[in-house]
Amino acid sequence: MANRAWEAVKEWASRFRADLKASTDASLLGVLRFLGLLYGPIDTNLPIDQAFRRSLRNRLSRNAGWRHAAGGITYLLFILLVVTGVLLSFYYRPSAEEAYQSVQHIVSGVRIGWLIRDLHVWGANLIVITALVHMGRVFLDASYKPPRETNWLAGVLLLFVVLAFGATGYLLPWDQWAYWTVTEALDMLGRIPVLGGLSVGLLRGDPVVSGATLSRFFAVHVIVLPWLAFGLLMLHFALLRKHGLAPPETPRADASEGVPFFPNHLLRSFVVAVLVLTVTATAAILWPREIADPANPSLPPGTLLTSWIVADVSRALTHYMGPWGLALFLLLGLGLAVLPLFDRAPERRLRRRPVVAGLGAVFYLAFVVAWLAGRQLRNMPPQPTVESGVQAPTAPDTAATRGRTP
Ligand code: HEM
Repeated sequence: MANRAWEAVKEWASRFRADLKASTDASLLGVLRFLGLLYGPIDTNLPIDQAFRRSLRNRLSRNAGWRHAAGGITYLLFILLVVTGVLLSFYYRPSAEEAYQSVQHIVSGVRIGWLIRDLHVWGANLIVITALVHMGRVFLDASYKPPRETNWLAGVLLLFVVLAFGATGYLLPWDQWAYWTVTEALDMLGRIPVLGGLSVGLLRGDPVVSGATLSRFFAVHVIVLPWLAFGLLMLHFALLRKHGLAPPETPRADASEGVPFFPNHLLRSFVVAVLVLTVTATAAILWPREIADPANPSLPPGTLLTSWIVADVSRALTHYMGPWGLALFLLLGLGLAVLPLFDRAPERRLRRRPVVAGLGAVFYLAFVVAWLAGRQLRNMPPQPTVESGVQAPTAPDTAATRGRTP
């Protein structure tokens, strides 16, 4: 009896395999490739199983090592942010009346809602660090030089998309810290002549940060940016396949075939992925993002706790340099984007590129210094401008709602 059942299962399994082969196409493997589980071209003339086996044999450039895992880890964090973001959006309500309560409900009324939220918050911090590490790796290896300029540009745009995700998500909890950090940053942005005023008008949608701003930030966070990121990632990965990883600085005549993607590189990425996910989960459990009192547009809080690394950097820049701190940051971004148009010589060894190496060192050092300086400002109340028309901060954080409600 058991034997006959076993035979039936085996027969069905082989028919299932045949059906699957007949009803699928090797191009479906593109999904696995987009998830980072396959690499290189897929031979769509072959049946799916053979194309899969051939794909597993693809090789990366000979110098691919641990440092090449940084891009993959940034991608993994991006996927984590998408998954946790979708789960949060099942419960989050994007209106000034309901946003604050819905976040309270997520962290205290929904099973493991607190964990999902804090994985999202910590993921948003770590992705900035891993993207900067990845960019630093590409920079050190001079992998931005021809023919990879377009991929460098796609990378710079991706970095801006990552920053824009964080900036628009920052307002969504609609508590005092979120509200006043965004108010302060938009006030500063508005003081940059011409472009500043235009972008603030577009982003804020009202003379002060209000429900209209929340709707705009939410729409950009969950509709505009995901599509942009998806398009840029497709471009980033397609160009990576086209040009391959940049070869070693000094190619050897006896260059071996290259590092197998499977299992070598995939295993390496897996080890780093487990490490990074463990760090993210531990941080989320040990240091949850606290929730302040509900947003009160007429009463700035006494202290402004930040929960995103870039918010610290931006506060430090604007506190010590005024609106020009933000302008400098944007100019730096533009400088990064056009770097491959100026540094085109084939030389890739760092010690032979002293000017570029110096600029890179200044950028990373300035980021760390600004971050540390920003952390020192956490006990300083927000600095609203006269136009905001609010009272000076007088009281510590209280839930007292005076004047216009958000
Ligand atoms: C969401 C952000 C990003 C993701 C998910 C991502 C992902 C990746 C992955 C998986 C690789 C291949 C492995 C590796 O080199 O680490 C790669 C390569 C590359 N990335 Fe990124 N990247 C991102 C942002 C950036 C940024 C900010 C830059 C630079 C401004 C950049 C420039 C490049 C270049 C030029 C390559 C080719 C490297 C080479 O040929 O050696 N990427 N990226």
